[in-house]
Amino acid sequence: MTVQIWRHCRVATLQPADPAPYGLIEDAALAVEDGKVLWVGPLAALPAEVKKRSTREHDAGGALITPGLIDCHTHLVYGGDRAHEFELRLQGASYEDVARAGGGIASTVKATRLASEQELAAQSMKRLQALMAEGVTTVEIKSGYGLALEHERKTLRVARALGQGQAVEVRTTFLGAHAIPPEFTGRSDDYIDEVLRMLPTLHAEGLVDAVDAFCERIAFSTVQTERVFEAACALGLPVKLHAEQLSDSGGAQLAARYGAISCDHLEWLSDAGVAAMAQAGSVAVLLPGAFYFLRETKLPPISQLREEGVPMAISTDCNPGSSPCTSLLLMLNMACTLFRLTPEEALAGVTRHAARALGLHDRGTLAAGQRADFVLWDVAHPAQLSYAIGANPRLQTVFKGELA
Ligand code: NIG
Ligand code: FE
Repeated sequence: MTVQIWRHCRVATLQPADPAPYGLIEDAALAVEDGKVLWVGPLAALPAEVKKRSTREHDAGGALITPGLIDCHTHLVYGGDRAHEFELRLQGASYEDVARAGGGIASTVKATRLASEQELAAQSMKRLQALMAEGVTTVEIKSGYGLALEHERKTLRVARALGQGQAVEVRTTFLGAHAIPPEFTGRSDDYIDEVLRMLPTLHAEGLVDAVDAFCERIAFSTVQTERVFEAACALGLPVKLHAEQLSDSGGAQLAARYGAISCDHLEWLSDAGVAAMAQAGSVAVLLPGAFYFLRETKLPPISQLREEGVPMAISTDCNPGSSPCTSLLLMLNMACTLFRLTPEEALAGVTRHAARALGLHDRGTLAAGQRADFVLWDVAHPAQLSYAIGANPRLQTVFKGELA
C-alpha cells in the first residue's frame, strides 16, 4: 500500500480531543494510506516508520487543511426554478401565502415531474459542482419534489448517479412526506398511505439512506409524521425531520422519541424541544440561508442548544423555494452573522457535526482511521473561512486519499 504525506501545512483536525481551538496543529504533517488518514500531528513528531514507507510527498505550501466539508441538508435535485415566486414575495406575498395559492413546493413538483432523468441530472449537476468547488466532499440530497413513486425514484436515482465517478459522496434521504401532491388535495392521510407504500419499494432498490418529513401546518401533522417514522424504523432506517421552521408543532420531541439523527430548521423550537433533542443526541441542523431568504425574524434558540450540548450543524438547504443557495462557505458567514455562532462552531457545523447529522462516523474530523477527505485552503487562519463573504480560497480537494 502506498503512503502519501502532506507537509508544510497547518491542520485543523476538528477533533474534540485535540485541545487547541479547531484542533489546530501548526507545522503539521498528514499521512494517508488506503484512502484513510494514517497519521496526523506536528511534523516534528512524524514517526520514522511512517516516513520510511512514504511513496509520495506533497508540499502544501503553508496551506490550511480542514476535513472535507459536508453539506448535510439539500434538496438539490429539482426541476425548474422559482424566480417568479421570488418576485411575488418581493411584492408582499409570504412564503406560506404562495404555498397556499398552489405555488411554492407544488410548482417545483410540477417541473420535476415533467423533467426527464437526463434533464434533472444536467441542472442538478451544476449545483453539485458549485458545492464541490468550495470543498464539499459529502452531500445529502433529499427527494420530495416527485411525490409519486416514479418521480421520487427518478429523483433518488439522479441523486445517486450524480456522485458516481466524482470526488464527492452523495447520501440520499427519502422525503416523500414533503408536501401533499395535487392529486391528493384534501386527502393528506391517503397520501401518507401512499408514502408508506413508496418507502419499502425505494428502500429495496437501494435508493434510501435515511427518511425525512416536513412537519408543519402547511405540510404534515405530528400524527402523520409519526406514521412515516414508524415505517422507517421498521426498515431500520434512521429518521430526521424538518421541524419547527414556521411554527412550533412539537416535531422535535416526536423526532427525539424515534432517535432522530437530526432535526432541521428549528427557528420555533421550544425549551422542551431542546431538552428532548439533547436527550436523544439529535443534531440541530441550522439553515441560515432559508432564514435569510424568507426574511425570518425568529432566531433558532442557539444559546439553549449550546447550553444543553446539542451539536449544531450548518447546511445550505439548497432548494428552489426557501434557499436557492449553492455556497456552503456563505452559510458559514451567515451562521456567524445571523445566528451568532463562533467561526469555530460554524466550521464544526459543516464537518464534525454535519457528519453526525448524517449518521456518519468515519469523516468530519481528521484523525487516524478517518476517511482521507480533506481540503487545502489559501487562508492564514480557520476563522477566515467564516469571515470572508463571496471568497473561495479552496486550493485543492483530496477525496478518499486521492487528489481530486
Ligand atoms: O427546507 N421546508 C420545507 N422544505 C424546503 C423548502 C422547499 C421549497 O420551498 O421548495 C426547506 O426550506
Ligand atoms: Fe429543507
